[in-house]
Amino acid sequence: MATKLEESAAITINRLHPVIGAEIKNVDLSQPLADDTIGQIIDAWHAHSVLLFRDQNLSEDDQIRFAAHFGPVADRVQPVGGDPLDAPDWNNLMLITDHVDANGKPIGSLGHGEMTFHTDKCYRERPHRTSFLYGIEIPSVGGHTKFASLYAAYDNMPDDLKRRLDDVFVMQGHEYSGYGRLKLDVNLEDIHHFRQPLILTVPGSNRKSLYLSRLNTMWIEGMDRGESEAILGPLFDLTEDPATMYEHVWRKGDLLMWDNLACLHARTDWPDGEKRMLRRCTTVGDRLW
Ligand SMILES: [Fe+2]
Repeated sequence: MATKLEESAAITINRLHPVIGAEIKNVDLSQPLADDTIGQIIDAWHAHSVLLFRDQNLSEDDQIRFAAHFGPVADRVQPVGGDPLDAPDWNNLMLITDHVDANGKPIGSLGHGEMTFHTDKCYRERPHRTSFLYGIEIPSVGGHTKFASLYAAYDNMPDDLKRRLDDVFVMQGHEYSGYGRLKLDVNLEDIHHFRQPLILTVPGSNRKSLYLSRLNTMWIEGMDRGESEAILGPLFDLTEDPATMYEHVWRKGDLLMWDNLACLHARTDWPDGEKRMLRRCTTVGDRLW
């Protein structure tokens, strides 16, 4: 016998921005969802790349249960000092916070400050497809998350460049020691890295995206460094076009999810002394080639 919790209902979808993002209403993510409701959410995710669910009250298990509809939920693989990695509940979850414990030791990852546009785990053999971020503590100003459409970036490329770069590969790397472009004079053996296609046809939407970011993309294969930089610079600018961006102002209880193959994200700074805590999990996607 079907329970009340498994009844499906039509969801409401309101655009957040003309290019990217939509808010979904009439869904309580703390409850198991009917297949039909999940299907509507997946369709909306393919259409809008970023989805917002407001006024949620989610436990760690709730967040992981919802995420699992979008693929295998990733284990935490990047130990960060002070993270509660040994607590079983946190195996799939990461706190993004500047909070510290009583001894002044960080309890989360990616602590304070602005962060450059990037996609999550693009430097893995199987990039993390979907990210889920839940708002627990929000500063009074700042700490916004900006999303920029990689579909729009591809659409806005000059046609000759689309043809020339249609089947090239780039090296994606994880080197977050500074702000802005990652360092290129590193030994690849010292950082996570993986080669990925520059232009993707994204499964589900079947649209082409320009899959690169200023923080992760190192060079275009088969070109010397000068030629690669001359092409990548304008492409980074194209992916960070303010006209293709939605900037999210967080509220406690927001659940944001996005497609890392379809958009970049970045965060803005917030005042020293103000606290911010978000809880993240991701799903592992398919290998891209
Ligand atoms: Fe991120």
